[in-house]
Amino acid sequence: MDKAEIDTVKQSFGRALGDKELLGKFYDRLVSSSPEVGKAFVNVDMETQKEVLQMSLSMAILYPQDNVVAKHAMNRVRHSHSQANLNIKPALYQYWLDSLLGAVAESDPEFTPELEQQWRAVMGVVIGYISSGYLEDGK
Ligand code: HEM
Repeated sequence: MDKAEIDTVKQSFGRALGDKELLGKFYDRLVSSSPEVGKAFVNVDMETQKEVLQMSLSMAILYPQDNVVAKHAMNRVRHSHSQANLNIKPALYQYWLDSLLGAVAESDPEFTPELEQQWRAVMGVVIGYISSGYLEDGK
């Protein structure tokens, strides 16, 4: 994947993190995005989940650059989100992405429709990787 495109998304993420409410906005959008997504988070502590979101976002952005730590982290998520474990259906990732971009659009003062397409391209790589592990066995 094009390094310049990944760098553009990283910079946008950096600006968006300047808004201390970014992760809270993402979380609020995510849990209300669909009843099925909301159900998945019913018993999840919000503060824990916000930490998870920040870590996983950094890793998701580094993933398309063949970053070894990111590969390892995303491999674990692929496994934990599979049918045999958390059972996160592939169709639910669109809510995750739309919630993320809704929050980033509010928090990054330099957000544009073109930047949104770049975010979608970068995140599409890791979402494809995680959701393609859905049916793998849970061992
Ligand atoms: C690219 C998208 C996603 C990434 C990178 C991601 C990342 C993570 C990470 C790092 C964890 C911590 C536990 C672990 O390592 O497995 C986690 C937990 C979790 N994720 Fe995701 N996730 C994504 C999408 C989703 C979606 C779409 C849903 C539901 C609709 C979801 C629901 C959950 C739930 C319920 C937990 C367990 C939280 C807990 O019990 O503490 N995730 N996710």
